[in-house]
Amino acid sequence: MVLRSHIVGCGSYLPERVVTNQELAGRVDTTDEWIVERSGIRQRYLAAEGETTADLATIAAQRALTSAGISGSEVDLLVLATATPDHTFPATAAKVQGRIGMVGGAAFDLQAVCSGFIFALSVADNFIKTGQARTALVIGAETFSRILDWTDRGTCVLFGDGAGAVVLRAGRGKGTSEDRGILSTHLHSDGRHHDLLYVDGGPSTTQTTGFLRMEGKEVFRHAVTNLASVVGEALTANDLTPADIDWVVPHQANKRIIEGTARKLGFPLERMVMTVERHANTSAASVPLALCEAVTDGRIRDGQLVLLEAMGGGFTWGAGLVRM
Ligand code: COA
Repeated sequence: MVLRSHIVGCGSYLPERVVTNQELAGRVDTTDEWIVERSGIRQRYLAAEGETTADLATIAAQRALTSAGISGSEVDLLVLATATPDHTFPATAAKVQGRIGMVGGAAFDLQAVCSGFIFALSVADNFIKTGQARTALVIGAETFSRILDWTDRGTCVLFGDGAGAVVLRAGRGKGTSEDRGILSTHLHSDGRHHDLLYVDGGPSTTQTTGFLRMEGKEVFRHAVTNLASVVGEALTANDLTPADIDWVVPHQANKRIIEGTARKLGFPLERMVMTVERHANTSAASVPLALCEAVTDGRIRDGQLVLLEAMGGGFTWGAGLVRM
């Protein structure tokens, strides 16, 4: 028997305010048609003034705990993936830990931008598999609206705010792909491309927060190649083919990237969970938001095989295979 991390609950939160492409077109030189054609995005949710990443993360975390039927005091590991923390320090995870009534264990932030949730899931899974944690809360939460240059139409139309969370619990399995829980995770980064998608500020460089900068075409090109490669790696590691996968929950950056990756791998689009048209790119929150939506509405069911994948600044990219 081997230790496995079972996903026993999930929760998400989107801010109240919806901003449509039409509304954006009132203040940025863009059109609904351009945004939909290039990205598939029709609207995004934006945090209210004063609403922070920790606020979004706390609600998602509380909903995940409720769906798992456990209290915060049972959690002994909290990993929060974010590129938009409340403060330079302490970790946003510490704030959330205090709010959910988690008193023991460890809470820390993890920064892998849009791949952050997959990286955090992998870290928590490894803590559980080595017996260092029994109950982990893995959160992806972002307020990207705070780091957007609202005069740069090439980037500001693509992102939104939100949070998603899952609860992992240690369980046992036979060590085969029939086991429930996280079967494997696969992480990569390539720092040679750190300046293709980055924020031009930070405590050690400009002492300002800075704004998101992106070479869109280059990012697009690398995204499809890297995602197809890491998904292939996850399938090979588990001796599976695309036909064995019930659902793919991709990072929701761009509809064309999702479609391009599906085509390259031979996944039918009906098995790709898609929220990008409503949520836009919420970075580390996008995968848990989409996963939670598909679990809650009954598309993803117990026993099904789900493949999670994401790519982000760094570059970072990764995949995780889970039997629900
Ligand atoms: N509205 C209208 N026109 C816009 C625009 C907008 N919001 N943003 C850019 N344009 C214009 C450009 O100025 C350019 O005009 P020009 O030809 O007169 O110079 C034209 O549209 C084409 O711009 P380009 O950047 O070449 O478009 P593109 O086809 O590469 O699409 C992205 C741009 C950003 C949508 C696309 O590159 C992309 O999706 N990249 C990946 C981004 C991503 O997912 N990043 C996150 C990964 S985690």
